[in-house]
Amino acid sequence: MAVGASPESEAWELIPERPTLSSLRQAAAGCRACRLWRNATQTVFGEGTEEAEVMLVGEQPGDREDLSGRPFVGPAGKLLDRALEEAGIDRHKVYVTNVVKHFKFEPRGKRRIHKKPAAEEIAACRPWLDTEIRVVNPRAIVCLGATAAQALLGRTFRLTHHRGEFVESPLAPLVTATVHPSSILRARDDESRHEEMQAFVEDLRVVARRLAV
Ligand code: URA
Ligand code: SF4
Repeated sequence: MAVGASPESEAWELIPERPTLSSLRQAAAGCRACRLWRNATQTVFGEGTEEAEVMLVGEQPGDREDLSGRPFVGPAGKLLDRALEEAGIDRHKVYVTNVVKHFKFEPRGKRRIHKKPAAEEIAACRPWLDTEIRVVNPRAIVCLGATAAQALLGRTFRLTHHRGEFVESPLAPLVTATVHPSSILRARDDESRHEEMQAFVEDLRVVARRLAV
């Protein structure tokens, strides 16, 4: 069991003995270890190859991800794709996933508004992420946003103070955290959006450079 894992999560019972990404994905499709599966459409498992050198970890699937069953395909995912390209990281060599695999939302009229996952939901879902990390065994893990950063680096981790820094961690040789791409989409005007995008790309570039050595 990896560091930070939640020994009591029922999801551990679903993890195959010698997991591969496809057997894990199949098992996760039937997970009911917390109540988030009830209102969501489907489990949104991570995506990418077992040989990926970089693992990007977001918070939880959004509306579009819930409907399509794939992580980072909505507006935040499109922005992420652009940032990776600008940073010179081949999207096809990246594994993308989330700390929570079901969409948590509140209905508002016809829309479904994202709700932050609770600590128990993050803990319940942890076996999936820990096993993805074990199977992919990436050289670098990049936490996207405070939820992922605090889940993987500890509750006291402050993204505002330590973004872009490499953190000593048993999870991978290179572990770092940066902002969540959706925070860039929420920037108050075009100028700050542009600046935040450049800073995000720069954080990813630092990872690309470290991987190249
Ligand atoms: N935001 C996330 O954190 N993950 C996704 O998959 C999509 C949006
Ligand atoms: Fe299982 Fe995670 Fe979905 Fe909860 S959010 S039901 S732990 S896959």
